[in-house]
Amino acid sequence: MAAVKGFRDVLPEESRRWQVLETAAARILGSYGYGDIRLPVLERTELFARSLGETTDIVEKEMYGFTDRDGTPVTLRPEATASVVRAYLESGLVHREPVCRLWYAGPMFRRERPQKGRFRQFSQIGVELLGRADPLADAEMLVMLSQYLEAVGAREASLELNSLGDRACRPAYREALRAFGEASRERLCGDCHRRLERNPMRLLDCKVDACREVMASAPLVLDSLCGDCRGHFAEVRRLLDRQGVAYRLVPRLVRGLDYYCRTAWEVVAAGLGAQNAVGGGGRYDGLVAALGGPDVPGIGFALGVDRLAMVLADGEAIGRPEAVVLPLGDEAVGPAFDLATRLRAAGLAVGLEPAGRTLKALLRTADRHGARRAIIVGEDELRAGRATVRDLERRIDRPRALPFAAPAPDLVRALRADAEVATS
Ligand code: HAM
Repeated sequence: MAAVKGFRDVLPEESRRWQVLETAAARILGSYGYGDIRLPVLERTELFARSLGETTDIVEKEMYGFTDRDGTPVTLRPEATASVVRAYLESGLVHREPVCRLWYAGPMFRRERPQKGRFRQFSQIGVELLGRADPLADAEMLVMLSQYLEAVGAREASLELNSLGDRACRPAYREALRAFGEASRERLCGDCHRRLERNPMRLLDCKVDACREVMASAPLVLDSLCGDCRGHFAEVRRLLDRQGVAYRLVPRLVRGLDYYCRTAWEVVAAGLGAQNAVGGGGRYDGLVAALGGPDVPGIGFALGVDRLAMVLADGEAIGRPEAVVLPLGDEAVGPAFDLATRLRAAGLAVGLEPAGRTLKALLRTADRHGARRAIIVGEDELRAGRATVRDLERRIDRPRALPFAAPAPDLVRALRADAEVATS
């Protein structure tokens, strides 16, 4: 029996990288004051229809929804910003915390066409900041994002930035785009014909070559920003420059969800093919009000964990055991087991093999696990009360370096000590 198309298992060699991503998120986002929120994966369908935009691809054709037994239309969340805002309003956080910082991690569901880096169930790590409209909030968030990418070793991830305008200036830009598209209507694809009528901003996001050619000379949103949006974006950029955050200004960048305004961005990475966006986000100042709350501004982003895990540098080294304990005969099993347990209790990742094989075979197994060291427990070692440590990277033995009876901290120190003696 196979998994459902677009759904997959994440095996330990990959989930180790997920753990690196999630641990770094808890640490770095936590240090900026973000609290971890656990959201349900199922929401009322209406929540997404009202927040993401009726004419977005997600709402039009990618949601996994069904009617619950009591007749309520429900949907597996395609993203979590809408859920965070719902929770923020429903829980009363909106009144208790005028400025609220939340982060989340978990699965999202979109019925897209599966391909490399694109799944129907995928995982995101996301953050949302509610209650701040000032440009410092945008800049701080982008500095935090770049600090995170740096910390996890995301290879060649780069930031693409744009401003999408607001309630004051976007309507005029949308009309300008519509007029521009209408003038070349016959060169645009069928989807774009619908976008012309319903959501002209999305014309900029079409992947069809002919449409891209047409839109290459479309008017730019940056040229139609009102004074307030222009000033806001200039300050965001000034603060980013000050912090040395590198980014590329991409005036045709639009996002796939309709709630965005002003600062918007994507994080792209090399080596992923067509699905090169490892993250995206932006400001959504009208969303809280659109979901029935007060006029509270918001900004946030989400990273695609599946994609980010694919571009982590040095992923192979993650999760390698510090050592594997190798008992050479039956009488060595007990002491080897004790040693492994005590090293594990001291916090080390340590493997343990059964007895009954030659040293050569055991060492081959240790190599296969990627262990840095082997701890050999044979007859001589039992007699001396000390195990031999072999550095598997440099092929060097430290004969009987590890005293079985030593207290745990001394054991760890002895295991990691550098004083080597060359293997004879
Ligand atoms: P999004 O750009 O739709 O934004 O998704 C964010 C990231 O999720 C993408 O950059 C990508 O890495 C990953 N992703 C999306 N779809 C898939 C898929 N089918 N397979 C694998 N990975 C995928 C949002 O979801 C917004 N809620 C982000 C946000 C938070 N904006 C403000 N706050």
